[in-house]
Amino acid sequence: MVGMNPTSRVLSGMRPTGQLHLGHYHGVLKNWVRLQQEFDCFFFVADWHALTTHYEDSHIIADSVWEMVVDWLAAGVNPGSAQLFIQSHVPEHAELHLLLSMVTPLGWLERVPSYKDQQEKLRERDLATYGFLGYPLLQSADILIYGADKVPVGEDQVAHVELTREVARRFNHLFGREPGFEEAAEAAIKKMGKKNARLYRDLLKRYQEQGDHEAIGVAHALLAEQQNLAITDRERLLGYLEGSGRMILTEPEALLTPASKMPGLDGQKMSKSYNNTISLREAPDDVRDKLRTMPTDPARVRRTDPGNPDVCPVWQLHEVYSDDTVKQGVREGCTSASIGCIDCKQHIIEAVLQELGPIQERAREFEQDPRRVRAIIHEGSDAARDVARDTLEEVRQAMGLAYT
Ligand code: TRP
Ligand code: SF4
Repeated sequence: MVGMNPTSRVLSGMRPTGQLHLGHYHGVLKNWVRLQQEFDCFFFVADWHALTTHYEDSHIIADSVWEMVVDWLAAGVNPGSAQLFIQSHVPEHAELHLLLSMVTPLGWLERVPSYKDQQEKLRERDLATYGFLGYPLLQSADILIYGADKVPVGEDQVAHVELTREVARRFNHLFGREPGFEEAAEAAIKKMGKKNARLYRDLLKRYQEQGDHEAIGVAHALLAEQQNLAITDRERLLGYLEGSGRMILTEPEALLTPASKMPGLDGQKMSKSYNNTISLREAPDDVRDKLRTMPTDPARVRRTDPGNPDVCPVWQLHEVYSDDTVKQGVREGCTSASIGCIDCKQHIIEAVLQELGPIQERAREFEQDPRRVRAIIHEGSDAARDVARDTLEEVRQAMGLAYT
């Protein structure tokens, strides 16, 4: 196992594909800032991941890498509490990805939901590439190389963490054996008699190749019934089944980040592709303009028409930014037409500007000191690389590739 730190290790990555906005802040960055206080955190710029979808306009990646790091720092991600680095500065990720690719059944990758979903969603891009198919496995390498046991992700990425667990299990099963383990297990299988041996092998295959968890339960029951197996043999076969030999790679768990409730300027989820964002470094005048011109209840045409907050995107922003007193005042004022939409929006304008104030101040400090930003990333990359090298050394050893 990797790492001497007794506390949990957290790892997460973000793709550099443009400016970060309030959706990223509320959905991801605030969570990172919280996690860094509690755990040993590794946060990285997933530039190779961005390449799997943006290989045709890779300049966007280069343009976004440093800006994204500035946004992280501005949002309060602290290099004193977390290692910040760039994926491609730690080329060990690529080597582990390659080695894992040798033992990962193709079907596991084809079955990851995002593979087909994203191809459908991003029709304008040609995603029928080897790299795109393999990107969840690259993510597995990202996680496993640090022995991370907690991975904060959104709902859409949970399947990737699940894949990572299966890959780790399979790797440990294949390469985590003491010498002679296979032979001893094979001999034990024979002791069960032909019929049960065939059944056991069948269940083994179903679990290891298809990730069928039911098969494990059936196999446990089968082993429990075997009168002519010594306890050691039974334990050996349980271990054989679950790959619980020596643990080389740690199975991580997903830390599900609650879906961001941050609505965009049109009431849909805030996202660059909907063109409804307020970026973290949006100039205050633009923040005001964007919020003032934001659509409201379409039925509220004149100031004297009563409105309905439940169909108004501005109300959703009150849900994020306003306390109960403000919300109650707005609701009454809107439905009785005693306040105008500009009055209503003024609360949001103030709250957003107040939130962005310290973020933008910190951003300016880092913008003015690009050398400091680079030093932070170089230090983080060095620290990450030390851990990554150790893991790879163990992986090579276990695979029998440590010829010197
Ligand atoms: N795939 C993630 C995304 O698209 C980013 C990512 C890459 C990641 N590697 C990771 C997240 C490892 C968590 C852990 O958002
Ligand atoms: Fe929306 Fe506020 Fe106008 Fe009501 S008063 S319609 S909640 S912006």
